Amino acid sequence: MIAAELLQSKIGNDAPKVAVILGSGLQGLAAALDDAVRVPYADIPGFPQPTVSGHGGELVVGLLEQVPVLMQSGRFHSYEGHAPQTVALPVRTFADMGVEILIVTNAAGGIRPTFRPPLLMLIADHVNYMWRNPLLGPKLESEERFPDMSEPYDAKLRELARDVALEEGVTLEEGVYAAVLGPSYETPAEIRMLAIIGADAVGMSTVPEVVVARARGMRVLGISAITNLAAGITNVRLTHEEVLAAGAAMSENLEVLVRGVVRDL
Ligand code: HPA
Repeated sequence: MIAAELLQSKIGNDAPKVAVILGSGLQGLAAALDDAVRVPYADIPGFPQPTVSGHGGELVVGLLEQVPVLMQSGRFHSYEGHAPQTVALPVRTFADMGVEILIVTNAAGGIRPTFRPPLLMLIADHVNYMWRNPLLGPKLESEERFPDMSEPYDAKLRELARDVALEEGVTLEEGVYAAVLGPSYETPAEIRMLAIIGADAVGMSTVPEVVVARARGMRVLGISAITNLAAGITNVRLTHEEVLAAGAAMSENLEVLVRGVVRDL
């Protein structure tokens, strides 16, 4: 609660009801906020410093389409050695602050053979292949012990995102995101397995945050920036730098989508 109180004191009265987690290469979106107040992680009790290049470390609060929005620039990943509870700490803080809608974004590899990256994919559902869950341990008073996960990604928000995409002429696919631990990219055999279990995209984030968001009753919209085809689908070798560059190339379309969703909420 301390982090939430400190943030509230910095933000003032206009508490955001919408928070956006920015994925790899997608941090540019924070620049879209007007009248921004930036709070570096170093100033927030309990927040560690992110260790991955391309991931800053600050919360930015400002106006998007006149709506107060909080953006998390720099996320904590399990592959950095963080406990899933740390990965989800920002979402718990957002919930303490009264945030009701969480928009999660990430960079992901495309598994569906028809995907031609760079491309945005609405997350319809996910598979937790990280074998970790941020709700492990004593139940927090404000959270459900056994949250229902039959609709992790809110159907109405997805419909809204599809409408905005259509209106704005942004190509938006929809599919299942599989979260793996990383940090090594997958082998071609692992990608064939993920395809068999129904995954359309693969990445190393998002699921811990979404699990906590659902346990706190937040509505979630998830958008993957498909930066590359997953291993074995093409013979191209994967590099983090290329993932970041492809993510940055999609930032503009992502901004159009997020702006439209926030405006029409
Ligand atoms: N695999 C896992 N995570 C990723 C990928 C990938 O191919 N691309 C971007 N994030």
